[in-house]
Amino acid sequence: MGLFSEMSRPNALVVGASRGIGLGFVKQLLARPDFGLVFAGCRSIEAATDLLALQQDYGDRLHLIPLDTTDETQLEEAAAKITGITANLHLIMNCVGWLHDADYQPEKALRQINSEQLLRYFQVNSISAALLAKHFMGLLKHSEPSLFASISAKVGSIGDNELGGWYGYRASKVALNMLMKTSAIEYSRRCPNAILVSLHPGTTDTGLSMPFQKGVPPEKLFTVERSVGQLLGVLDGLTPADSGGFFSWDGSRLPW
Ligand SMILES: NC(=O)c1ccc[n+]([C@@H]2O[C@H](COP(=O)([O-])OP(=O)(O)OC[C@H]3O[C@@H](n4cnc5c(N)ncnc54)[C@H](OP(=O)(O)O)[C@@H]3O)[C@@H](O)[C@H]2O)c1
Repeated sequence: MGLFSEMSRPNALVVGASRGIGLGFVKQLLARPDFGLVFAGCRSIEAATDLLALQQDYGDRLHLIPLDTTDETQLEEAAAKITGITANLHLIMNCVGWLHDADYQPEKALRQINSEQLLRYFQVNSISAALLAKHFMGLLKHSEPSLFASISAKVGSIGDNELGGWYGYRASKVALNMLMKTSAIEYSRRCPNAILVSLHPGTTDTGLSMPFQKGVPPEKLFTVERSVGQLLGVLDGLTPADSGGFFSWDGSRLPW
């Protein structure tokens, strides 16, 4: 009997839901009859064709919410929109992340660093989580257990960093972990039934990892379905004493 069984038909918000791991969470939560409403936050609803297709199947159980987590006005509007539909969220799954795009590859050396891209890493990968914690505390505050999880990455472990490189991504995940840990301490006072954690999904077959999959042995490259299943298992096994922690896909604690 895990944490989810202590919640009555939990309602979930998945942020960064358009593709990759976030989309995988939306699919698995909708497929579970023990879950209630699923809110899927994404930057462009029109472009989120997979979410739009799911809405055909799941109707009013799935609500698509416009949400760019770097825009505080959109965060406020999203919280207000969800509050108009339900007073309680039991799970917020922050799957927002950025590593590379057509114009930018993660830095291998100091000479490749520039402040504009560093700021972008922090804005998307770190600050988003703090703003979610700020704007959604009210929805997580109720008499049942609730969870706010952000997907971090093992490369954001300072203790585990033996390879170097990826300056901006690594540092932004370190900052994410600190913002989650610090939010967990404030939540323990102001929203005591909530558990906040950072999660490492393992290398997962998405657009984010695609250019870096070559050296990964097949058994260490997870499908999205497997990653999401594993992370839901980790979340289900959490207790209040785990709040503020940094957990890997197998439930083990990662070094800071
Ligand atoms: N895949 C892996 O191997 C791996 C390993 C370790 C950690 N992670 C972490 O896992 C999380 C999910 O990654 P993924 O592999 O699923 O990546 P992905 O397929 O590239 O998906 C990234 C998601 O983040 C969204 N996003 C980016 N910027 C956003 C913003 N400002 N506001 C709202 N949404 C935004 C994207 O939305 P758009 O469609 O609008 O761009 C997309 O839904 C990330 O935090 C990543 O760092 C992944």
